[in-house]
Amino acid sequence: FMLTSAGQPPLDRRGESEESGDDETRRKSINGDVDPNQPTASNCVASSMFHVVFQDVDLVHCRIGKIEGLEVLQKAKTLSLRQNLIKKIENLDSLSSLRELDLYDNQIRRLENLHNLTELEQLDVSFNILRKVEGLEQLTQLKKLFLLHNKISNICNLDHLSILEMLELGSNRIRVIENLDSLTSLQSLFLGTNKITKLQNLDGLHNLTVLSIQSNRITKIDGLQNLVNLRELYLSHNGIEVIEGLENNKKLTTLDIAANRIKKIENISHLTDLEEFWMNDNQIENWSDLDELKNAKSLETVYLERNPLQKDPQYRRKIMLALPSVRQIDATFIRF
Ligand SMILES: *[C@@H]1O[C@H](CO)[C@@H](O)[C@H](O)[C@H]1NC(C)=O
Ligand SMILES: *[C@@H]1O[C@H](CO)[C@@H](O)[C@H](O)[C@H]1NC(C)=O
Ligand SMILES: *[C@@H]1O[C@H](CO)[C@@H](O)[C@H](O)[C@H]1NC(C)=O
Ligand SMILES: *[C@@H]1O[C@H](CO)[C@@H](O)[C@H](O)[C@H]1NC(C)=O
Repeated sequence: FMLTSAGQPPLDRRGESEESGDDETRRKSINGDVDPNQPTASNCVASSMFHVVFQDVDLVHCRIGKIEGLEVLQKAKTLSLRQNLIKKIENLDSLSSLRELDLYDNQIRRLENLHNLTELEQLDVSFNILRKVEGLEQLTQLKKLFLLHNKISNICNLDHLSILEMLELGSNRIRVIENLDSLTSLQSLFLGTNKITKLQNLDGLHNLTVLSIQSNRITKIDGLQNLVNLRELYLSHNGIEVIEGLENNKKLTTLDIAANRIKKIENISHLTDLEEFWMNDNQIENWSDLDELKNAKSLETVYLERNPLQKDPQYRRKIMLALPSVRQIDATFIRF
């Protein structure tokens, strides 16, 4: 997996692993950088005409201000209007074959006029200025919904998306986890960088394998009892003091509880499938705590930097001796 330059585990791994071809654009727009390879208008037209043949239309970064004149694309399966200046979703009614619609990084205020896109399986309206989740009632084929970095304050109006597999709501203004009960097919839920104070209302999500709630205001690990299929749990940058409440999450392979207020590694000796344990920036001071990880025979990576343990001059050596399967300590691979 990837490391950021600060040697920290990535803040939200979805951006790193999923949709890898998009990483560059995502990072650029997050950093506010200007793309030096910005296409001219003629490039945009040329590439779109080329792609029509393959039912795959790409109008990225073309300074488009209004969606219009796309009626000819009735057969298009994917349409990307990434990084333009679009303010309103409109004039898409005839594109009823569309499977993927990408409106990432525009200036859209409302989810509207999507009712005819009943075949849509993937919708990305990240990096816009949406305040509400709405207007998705007809999109019952939707499998992936990306609404990262908007101004959304409530999780609602998702009930009919019963085959939704991925929901990205990171970097919004959400305070409460709610109204997810009918999303029984959901596999990945991303709620990082919001204002959530409690892990709750997750009981219906039996198929959830990835849960990310980094950079919120969680103080206690609970409400995860029903998530027996969970494999990756990201809880870094919260206010958690005790590791607990993971009794039923026996399939966890990644546990990220970095940057919390934890003094002791405890209650995880049953997590025998653990491969990644990210525990940096806490208050761990007792070397015997590593015994909790002894049963995790496939453990590959541990992050423990910036705990009191790191003051020990034998820091790396002691971790290697305690956890012989580990191949990476903090950002550095073990050299033999
Ligand atoms: C919207 O979809 C309906 C039903 O598929 C279709 O009859 C109608 O023509 C579509 N609207 C437009 C503007 O194409
Ligand atoms: C949950 O996952 C299992 C195994 O992948 C699958 O068979 C089942 O249909 C899923 N349940 C729902 C409600 O999607
Ligand atoms: C967690 O571990 C501590 C010992 O470190 C133990 O006292 C406590 O009962 C454990 N909690 C649970 C829920 O197992
Ligand atoms: C470290 O933890 C072990 C086992 O929990 C305990 O017996 C020991 O007293 C602790 N050492 C310190 C210095 O707290």
